[in-house]
Amino acid sequence: MAWITKNSAGMKIPRRSEPYLTEALKSELTRTILPRYETRRGALLPTLHAVQHEWGWIPWQALEEVAAFLNVAPAEAWDTASFYEEFWLQPKGTNVIAVCRSIACEVCDHKKITQACKEKLGIEVGETTDDGKFTLVELECLGLCEGAPACLVNEDMHMCATPESITKAIDQAKNAPSHGHGHHH
Ligand code: FES
Repeated sequence: MAWITKNSAGMKIPRRSEPYLTEALKSELTRTILPRYETRRGALLPTLHAVQHEWGWIPWQALEEVAAFLNVAPAEAWDTASFYEEFWLQPKGTNVIAVCRSIACEVCDHKKITQACKEKLGIEVGETTDDGKFTLVELECLGLCEGAPACLVNEDMHMCATPESITKAIDQAKNAPSHGHGHHH
């Protein structure tokens, strides 16, 4: 058996000189969000939302900036951000394909839908294509169980999916004009 070790200590955090938590964002948060909370720390969730809204995802550098801004440990900011599924700690593609992996869809073989997406896009679950066009994720129950296996192509519900239908939906999304999911800064 081979063990593949992860070089955690040598992990490189990409950094850029321009902050993600810009002065404009900070002053907006200070004006509209912070006054609603007793402590700065209390504003962690809305601050993370604001950063994600601005950039489409939350880079590690941004987590550090948020932590400094709110006087919390970077680890706490990370714990919180990684706990909630709605926060993206990796860049998100222009289009997001979300396959449900909960029980009703599992019974209806959601795996073959995920597999069709992986083959079509050439990525694994949790990854984004090199051109930044597609991110593939699996989520818990989408509330569409009567249409299992179900998935979302951006905001469009896709029920009783088949490998053929999801492949077609991906093609349509690829050719559709941008629908405003991407963040181009
Ligand atoms: S289990 Fe898949 S939509 Fe509910």
